[in-house]
Amino acid sequence: MCGIIGHVGTGDAIETLLSGLENLEYRGYDSAGVAVQNGAGIEVRKRSGKVSELKASVGNPGLEGRIGIGHTRWSTHGPPTDENAHPHTDSTTDVAVVHNGIIENYADLKSRLSERGHEFTSDTDTEVIPHLIQHYLEEGYGNESAFRHAIDALEGSYAVAAMLSGEHAIYAARQGSPLVVGIDDGEYFLASDVPAFLEYTDTVVYLEDGDVAIVRPDGVEFTNLDGRPVSRPPETVDWDPEQTGKGEYDHFMLKEIHEQPTSLAQTIEGRIQPDNASIDLEGFEPGSFDGIDTVQLVACGTSYHAALFGSLALNRAGIPARALLANEYSVCSPPVRDGTLVVAVSQSGETADTLSALRAADAEGARTLTVTNVVGSTAARVADESICIRAGPEIGVAATKTFSSQAVILALLAHRLAADASDGTPFDIESFLPGLAALPDRIDGLLASSNADRIARRYVDAESYFFIGRGLGFPVALEGALKFKEITYEHAEGFASGELKHGPLALVTPETPVFPVFTGEEDEKTLKNTEEAATRGAPVVAVCPDDHRATELADAHLEIPETEPSLAALLANVQLQLVSYHAADLLDRPIDKPRNLAKSVTVE
Ligand code: F6R
Repeated sequence: MCGIIGHVGTGDAIETLLSGLENLEYRGYDSAGVAVQNGAGIEVRKRSGKVSELKASVGNPGLEGRIGIGHTRWSTHGPPTDENAHPHTDSTTDVAVVHNGIIENYADLKSRLSERGHEFTSDTDTEVIPHLIQHYLEEGYGNESAFRHAIDALEGSYAVAAMLSGEHAIYAARQGSPLVVGIDDGEYFLASDVPAFLEYTDTVVYLEDGDVAIVRPDGVEFTNLDGRPVSRPPETVDWDPEQTGKGEYDHFMLKEIHEQPTSLAQTIEGRIQPDNASIDLEGFEPGSFDGIDTVQLVACGTSYHAALFGSLALNRAGIPARALLANEYSVCSPPVRDGTLVVAVSQSGETADTLSALRAADAEGARTLTVTNVVGSTAARVADESICIRAGPEIGVAATKTFSSQAVILALLAHRLAADASDGTPFDIESFLPGLAALPDRIDGLLASSNADRIARRYVDAESYFFIGRGLGFPVALEGALKFKEITYEHAEGFASGELKHGPLALVTPETPVFPVFTGEEDEKTLKNTEEAATRGAPVVAVCPDDHRATELADAHLEIPETEPSLAALLANVQLQLVSYHAADLLDRPIDKPRNLAKSVTVE
């Protein structure tokens, strides 16, 4: 939820730090700051508010330096004030630190340091780190040793970057929060995520938990906390820097909705062979799921809706499966047995709730698998195995293209598992795979002809919005409502179609449009539920093919192209993403950065 950037090189660090912070704003954006070595010592500028506000303060008077660290914050300890913004320093400003994560023993450390005369100026847990380093320096340790001792004293999760006055180096450590080093011919970058420095280099080294990296002008040293070298070979990321900009679109969210034909093509590329009805999930050869007889899927938010979609696909394939909210897992997890596979579904791979469920499942002895968009993410490393959804970077806080790719990968996984499970019933792969191969083109057509902007304009003044669906349409109804409330700030709810009459119908009025999703499965029942709402005066916006009976009853219609029933819900979801987007745009909401939300939620 916070973003870290660091730069060591020959040129001016300020520009790199500020552009890195802008690229990282999606991780959190209530305050930001930078610290540089300016030749005379460490100089810090930090501000509550957006990076643009920090930018103004950095130029006045001008800040200079070739080595620096920066941070964009989403508050966890203390409100978003100038004082609580990072970097934090010790009392002499000889040490500056940026941090992402939570220091669980900070209260204890703070009181011990206070007893020794350290004075704290913020409410943050982070501030104990520079004071700890200062403490060890005062005890006579050298810079590197003081840093290692300070890190050793921390409990919790962290990605930390520190600078010590007069030394041309950044010290970094990772435990539970992501950190990646970028390398480019004498220029070095450090960040919580690759898009921060992707415009400069695509050669990266992901730190593992327990790693310490020391970045100097002549190279990077990777060790464990005890100082023993560890081998961390560089990797090349194939993300295009263009992809991380908005391009021709007004918002990342709209760009990412429109990227779905491409991102889904990437998701399935080389993984499906419709001609011989086969699926090739790399690393999962036939037989690799032998012995798996139940699946638990753990996830949060949009990823939970994808997990729900996946659980239905698995159940239909004959594999008993349940989707569980990761944040409820510790109190409601079903038993883990020998044949249990626990699948964590997480776009970022850094969601604390999901990581915690994954670790709990691992401790219970389950086989674990992560479905994620970020190859080097913590969830990918913690699980026994992982599958990348290959959706490309997603910057808008509201997840869009990653939902589609997650759902598709989970459907493919369902087929692979069913093929291996002794009592699995392989389902309709002959029609599913050609439908899947055609999905990118169908979404392309839908995007070109969508009337979602007109629907949004027609209903933007309504009181509340209800989304209903059955079967695979149910997770999409939930997702339609989540997207709507998240970016428009208007009240929206998703229900299973059949549930409407068990309570929510009491809320239905002429001021509450209902969006029923028709997937071709038991549509007659959904139509009946829709009629029940229409009879109470609710405007109906049917999400269905053009020639569907629901269009006769509906006041308006969002078209989905004819396709396999198992894929229709994904097309409907794209229409609902567009409705939310256009409604939020009409309401002038900050679509890519909705209030109170962050792209990556790294606290439980
Ligand atoms: C909503 C949204 C969130 C995330 C949730 C889990 O648009 O993006 O609900 O889906 O915070 O995040 P990941 O998938 O990164 O674990």
